[in-house]
Amino acid sequence: MSHADHPAGDHGATRRDFLYYATAGTAAVGAGAAAWTLINQMNPSADVQALASIQVDVSGVEEGTQLTVKWLGKPVFIRHRTAEEIERAKADDGAALIDPLARNANLDGTEPATDANRTLDEAEKWLVMIGVCTHLGCVPIGDGAGDFGGWFCPCHGSHYDAAGRIRRGPAPENMHIPVAAFLDDATVKLG
Ligand code: FES
Repeated sequence: MSHADHPAGDHGATRRDFLYYATAGTAAVGAGAAAWTLINQMNPSADVQALASIQVDVSGVEEGTQLTVKWLGKPVFIRHRTAEEIERAKADDGAALIDPLARNANLDGTEPATDANRTLDEAEKWLVMIGVCTHLGCVPIGDGAGDFGGWFCPCHGSHYDAAGRIRRGPAPENMHIPVAAFLDDATVKLG
């Protein structure tokens, strides 16, 4: 074999390896529980596909702090807001909002983005959001970050307010609210 033949030979080996792994993956799906670890490594989202609904203990989430849980492969922010945050968010109900919709999966999709329409409880203390920037999907920084006292996405500079509404930057929508409910004082159910 001449030196010039090598690239073609290497390419062929790479293709065969790819086909082998693809076939192994398909076979493993049929093999059931024993293959779970393998599938889990090949496709990280597989581990959450069965968990369409989870319950989260929020009893330890102090006022002014946020718990982040992973649900359906995405971070979900569960924030216990301070009186000041609530006040600021309610005051901003009348601001010129980039996205006027609540983006709350618990509502029918047409409601305005008031603080009351985005929070989980009547006292508007609890804000539960999918922690993904609606621009290109980065995870925003919280704890009062950004120019509006809520969250800031450093990827391209999107500022969200204390209700998770987009106020400045390229993100087109408020952060989304997932299907969620309090089962009791200490337990939030997602999904
Ligand atoms: S992904 Fe958040 S600003 Fe671009």
